[in-house]
Amino acid sequence: MNQRAKTVATEIVEAVRDVLRRNKVTFAEYRAGFMHLAKTQAAGEIPLMLDLFFNTTIVQIENESRKGSKADIQGPYFVPNVPFVDHEIAIEEEHKAMPRMVMRGKVVDMSGTPVAGAVIDVWHSTPDGRYSGIERHGNLDKKYYRGKIKTDSEGRYEVRSIIPVPYQVPNKGPTGQLLEEYMGVHSWRPAHIHYWVQAEGLRDVIRQAYFEGGDYVHDDCCEGGGDEFIVAEAYEDGVRVMEVDFQLEPAQTLVQAAE
Ligand SMILES: [Fe+2]
Repeated sequence: MNQRAKTVATEIVEAVRDVLRRNKVTFAEYRAGFMHLAKTQAAGEIPLMLDLFFNTTIVQIENESRKGSKADIQGPYFVPNVPFVDHEIAIEEEHKAMPRMVMRGKVVDMSGTPVAGAVIDVWHSTPDGRYSGIERHGNLDKKYYRGKIKTDSEGRYEVRSIIPVPYQVPNKGPTGQLLEEYMGVHSWRPAHIHYWVQAEGLRDVIRQAYFEGGDYVHDDCCEGGGDEFIVAEAYEDGVRVMEVDFQLEPAQTLVQAAE
């Protein structure tokens, strides 16, 4: 028997029972909750629901062991194997006049030495809150609003794009109903940029950058981020500057949980 699985599973069941007892939940209410979960399963929203409530918690636990840059949630819209971009992320013709941003920064190791050749995947929303390469978002060509960039010999990167917008997580199904109708909270995420930084021999990090002063920055429905991920408002010739540095620690060998 896996002792760790036994402990966690038993304590989850006990925690739920405790809530049921404390609130004197009736059989009718229990059945309604049961049916709501069945509806969530039928709608294919179990992953959405779990990520919405628990992904950030797992990332926070993982961050306790990180000595370099802290991680943030990955979100569901990462697309692998996108092309490298050269200082400019592809923007659809009709959106080329939208407000611009430049993403730049430096990747260093724990001693502060620049990491040359680090690969950074960046991805962000369209100006109407969708992601490219995602079927339910209309399958916009994945060359738009995402790409890989490589740090130069001084560990620096720089790439330009347009500013993403806040968007709602899928809220028309049972997860949205749980969030908005039963829990009385909204389903919005603040505007953000996603990063996944990888370099030879170093521990990769996935994080997001949020825009100081933006809507929902301190009220993210996914509870992502935190103050350290908010980038101060700065402009250069009218272009929003998003300066984000990364410090990577040595790659770790995963230790198997004790049986
Ligand atoms: Fe996102």
